[in-house]
Amino acid sequence: MRNLMITGGAGFIGSNFVRYVLDRHPAYRIVVYDKLTYAGNLDNLRDVAERWPKRYAFVHGDICDAALVRETVAAHEVDTVVDFAAETHVDRSIMDPAAFIKTDVYGTYVLLEATREMGLERMHQVSTDEVYGHVPEGSSKETDAVAPRSPYAASKTSADLMINAYHVTYGLPVTITRGANNIGPYQYPEKVVPLFTTNALDDIPLPLYGDGLQVRDYHYVLDHCEAIDLVLHAGEIGAIYNVGTGAEVPNIEMARVILRLLGKPESLIQPVRDRPGHDRRYALDVEKMRALGWEPAHTCVEAIESTVRWYVENEWWWRPIKSGKRYQEYYRRQYEGREIQ
Ligand code: NAD
Ligand code: TYD
Repeated sequence: MRNLMITGGAGFIGSNFVRYVLDRHPAYRIVVYDKLTYAGNLDNLRDVAERWPKRYAFVHGDICDAALVRETVAAHEVDTVVDFAAETHVDRSIMDPAAFIKTDVYGTYVLLEATREMGLERMHQVSTDEVYGHVPEGSSKETDAVAPRSPYAASKTSADLMINAYHVTYGLPVTITRGANNIGPYQYPEKVVPLFTTNALDDIPLPLYGDGLQVRDYHYVLDHCEAIDLVLHAGEIGAIYNVGTGAEVPNIEMARVILRLLGKPESLIQPVRDRPGHDRRYALDVEKMRALGWEPAHTCVEAIESTVRWYVENEWWWRPIKSGKRYQEYYRRQYEGREIQ
């Protein structure tokens, strides 16, 4: 493993992973392959080209474009694909599922075909705990049945199933990680933690869906990156690994932690109409990952604290996004008239 193609590397987790790998593996080179959708942002990689000019390259491309994928693999002598490229926001998947099916399902198939035809050493898929659907009790093991309930989760699940099929049918060297909710630097402020943090900083209400008792495992993005790196190097081919802290934080508690850290009043919490089909609880069993020797360095609350600090210190990054027309249109469409009194 030497030359990695990181698809979706200009997004939140991908850009953190690029930095993590270049720092940790001095012999590796990376080509980021990214379509630069609304969520892709070269500001996320601003320092990378300066710090590692000889080991980093960027290609502007769609993973659905099979010819450009192959061309990139050949030109950069890629031996490993790590696939972060996806449409990722559940609420947008409810508004417009088409883009999710194109990128998350068809795009993954294109990468599988390139891996197969060009004889690559590995394709790693960055998947999600959402494939297990709502988990009323206990915790999801990698062997549990998948039961996705949103168009986003269904598209990610389809990709996982296709990856497994390529492994079984063609012997493709694949691995999959299924991560819980990541938080940290460079997360687009449509996702709840950066949304609530940046709203609170501007004294704008925090739109909390339903009763706010939905449970998520908010874990720190660099812990996730470390887990992916470990699976790339020590994971079993064909295997799936859950990644999270195993903790459970109700959304209302997460909102209170953010407000407390920023010294803002709880009256900023604004209950709004719930998300249709909202999964009330995700819970991962992460023993398989632990058995590889991995342990998250941050608890959920530490992850929230670090994330809030980063947004406080990096207004240069999020203010242009939030003041942009595209973001504001989305915000209106998603939240206008949704308040519950
Ligand atoms: P993100 O939305 O911040 O970034 C996605 C990136 O993919 C963007 O840079 C975007 O431009 C790019 N992209 C989208 N469509 C593309 C296409 N057709 N071709 C090439 N590039 C394309 O997402 P993220 O939060 O960084 O998530 C990365 C991956 O991790 C996704 O596959 C997601 O499903 C998975 N994941 C995310 C979380 C989370 O909490 N954020 C948790 C578990 C798994
Ligand atoms: P999100 O960050 O969209 O991640 P996911 O739905 O993929 O887990 O949402 C995290 C939780 O926060 C989820 O239970 C929905 C809730 N939420 C709100 O209460 N208000 C919001 O404005 C958003 C975006 C999410």
